[in-house]
Amino acid sequence: MGSPADFQNEIYLKGLGDVVPELPTDLTRLEGLAEERLSAKAYGYVAGAAGSEHTARANREAFDRWRIVPRMLRDVGGCDLATRVLGTDMPAPVLLAPIGVQAIFHPDGELAVARAAAGTGLTTVLSTAASYAMEEVAAANGDGPRWYQLYWPKDRELAASLIGRAKAAGYTALVVTLDTFTLAWRPRDLDQAYLPFLRGIGVANYFSDPVFQEAVGGPVDASNRDAALMHWVANFGDPTLTWDDLGFLREHWDGPIALKGIQHPDDARRAVDAGMDGVIVSNHGGRQLDGAIASLDALPGVVDAVGDQATVLFDSGVRTGADIAKALAIGAKAVLVGRPYIYGLALGGEAGVRHVVRCLLAELELTVTLSGHAGLDGLTREILATGDIRHGSSG
Ligand code: GLV
Repeated sequence: MGSPADFQNEIYLKGLGDVVPELPTDLTRLEGLAEERLSAKAYGYVAGAAGSEHTARANREAFDRWRIVPRMLRDVGGCDLATRVLGTDMPAPVLLAPIGVQAIFHPDGELAVARAAAGTGLTTVLSTAASYAMEEVAAANGDGPRWYQLYWPKDRELAASLIGRAKAAGYTALVVTLDTFTLAWRPRDLDQAYLPFLRGIGVANYFSDPVFQEAVGGPVDASNRDAALMHWVANFGDPTLTWDDLGFLREHWDGPIALKGIQHPDDARRAVDAGMDGVIVSNHGGRQLDGAIASLDALPGVVDAVGDQATVLFDSGVRTGADIAKALAIGAKAVLVGRPYIYGLALGGEAGVRHVVRCLLAELELTVTLSGHAGLDGLTREILATGDIRHGSSG
């Protein structure tokens, strides 16, 4: 594949103007189109957030406050965005964020996403709450890079089993989500009394797990399905976890571990003290704590606290290549993109996800070069201005 930005030429040249892309190239338009395509329940699940959705809006507003100050005449030919993050080579510092229950958006769900990720070289982070079992997703992903996201269940044997299966299935880094030991108050789902898990979607990793099966009297079928769903409810999250429990992860996982949901510099320091390799600055796309700080506003403090000791990744509110460039400039080593690829999945299956990824990477490369940089090294806070931060003068 050529440079990601070549996607632009491909679009203009295809049919010399008589063939237009099937999906918009302004990825902020996908949400509205997905609303037309999806059921009200599925759309509400992905587009919705916690409470009044104030934090979800704050995530977007924070991106609007940071602006790029472009520089000129700096030889930006041959731009290269390739990098290595937590042991994984990437064509650009972009990952597909863990999102569960993808079969409610498209029947192929996580399988389509895994194929699109492999085809574009991006790393997919598979959610524990996936609608297909991690081994099936690994087979669809083939040689593609993949990480596994853990919702840490109450039953330690089950947690160990999930992690062990992920290792065996070729997931190379472990992402542990800390902010969802219980699901938040989500009015769009509550108002429709809609929780896909209780309809048996998003529980494939549990129902296929030997430890889980043993706890519910064997493989899940019509005879024990209700009991299995109740066992899932009882085990999904553990609100009693503390920093002292992190040793368990190290005992069971010998690859890189990143803690997702970090928003406070002191928590980032504790993660480093506990021997974690990375932190993901995320507020779960505003889906957990309404009223919380915008994730982008939490990023500078975390980078300043631990950026030289751990890999700081960013998640929440990302919609465009310019958003990715801003988070990288603040100091993230890579950025996780969530809802946009789900809208692509809803609108076009594997091809829709691929479209979203290609748009994001093309726009990211163009943002970097048009800002006056030929690679990731140039992306520092000095390229940004905000209402209250004057941009630097170097370069
Ligand atoms: C679960 O992780 C969700 O955000 O729906």
